[in-house]
Amino acid sequence: MISKHPFGTLPDGRIIERFRLSNRQGTLVDVLSLGGIIQRWELPDGRDIALGFDVAGDYLDDPAYMGALVGRYANRIAAGEFKLDGESIKVATNLQGHCLHGGPQGFNGAIWSCKVIPSDQGDALELTLSSEDGDQGFPGNLDVRVLYQLDDDNRFAITYQARTDKTTVFNPTQHCYFNLAGHESGDILDTRLQLKASCYTPANQEGIPTGELRSVQGTEFDLNALSPLRDRVLSQDKEILAAGGLDHNFCLDGFEATQQSLNEVALAVHEKSSTRLRVFTTMPGIQVYTGNFIPERPLGKGGANYDKYHGFCLESQFYPDSPNQPGFPSAILRPGETFQSKTVYQVEVD
Ligand code: GLA
Repeated sequence: MISKHPFGTLPDGRIIERFRLSNRQGTLVDVLSLGGIIQRWELPDGRDIALGFDVAGDYLDDPAYMGALVGRYANRIAAGEFKLDGESIKVATNLQGHCLHGGPQGFNGAIWSCKVIPSDQGDALELTLSSEDGDQGFPGNLDVRVLYQLDDDNRFAITYQARTDKTTVFNPTQHCYFNLAGHESGDILDTRLQLKASCYTPANQEGIPTGELRSVQGTEFDLNALSPLRDRVLSQDKEILAAGGLDHNFCLDGFEATQQSLNEVALAVHEKSSTRLRVFTTMPGIQVYTGNFIPERPLGKGGANYDKYHGFCLESQFYPDSPNQPGFPSAILRPGETFQSKTVYQVEVD
């Protein structure tokens, strides 16, 4: 079921709606028209496992991208430059001279058109956005459609679709910060993580991949067995120290360029609350980000004091800087094609 409620008003007077997706088990996911933000993810026992804010304006210019839909290009494009069919493209930069998460005015700050689509498998929330040719420097009028759906098995499915009228690049993701113990319960270092990833993309100090696909074997990036985040986040590995924790792209096993079926790629376990989060996706990569730069202000929901490592993100994506890396799966979208991808987060509590 999906119900609609007012959420708040931005300083410029624009009204933000909140859509509540709920299922028969008593799970609730609240989504905002602003940025398609997942503002609350409440389990039947009342635990809210998603970090977020109570005040709509706190989401504007939020450097953490708390809960937001990210685009046009999630993660980094080096120097905001790339070549597309031989033409040089320059996009807006917002982090150390690079383009991060689509540039300074990305999809996270846009107000999406939202519509409830009733269905037998449970209602879906449709969010649509038209990004004009040249938006943040990206070519093509891009029509984006995202569907959010919560089923009775506590699967929250995100389907992304897009069409363009000029060749462009597209790499959407969801930037929800999870804390399986509850958003206000401090750091996530006790959580264990498993990833089906034999390789990762090593990066320089600024998070720009070198182009290498490096085996995780024998490195701190081997998460093929369930591993406490504490060991990795606080590791003395040079790349982890440079990022202040995990903020790395993993190459997911089993990805094929034409695939539509989901691969089960990640499992996060919080033992004390017997809670598990599973991630399924059709995408080739996942950025594991342990909230290394979560700012202490503004205050989180209910006055919670968030700090670094208080949430983790599992951002399905094309690899960072793919437009400059011919060896990476391609993020190019051409006129006449429909981009389609799907990522599912499933929460289980014993
Ligand atoms: C991603 C990036 C991080 C950081 C966060 C948002 O995960 O990789 O470096 O920008 O988003 O703060």
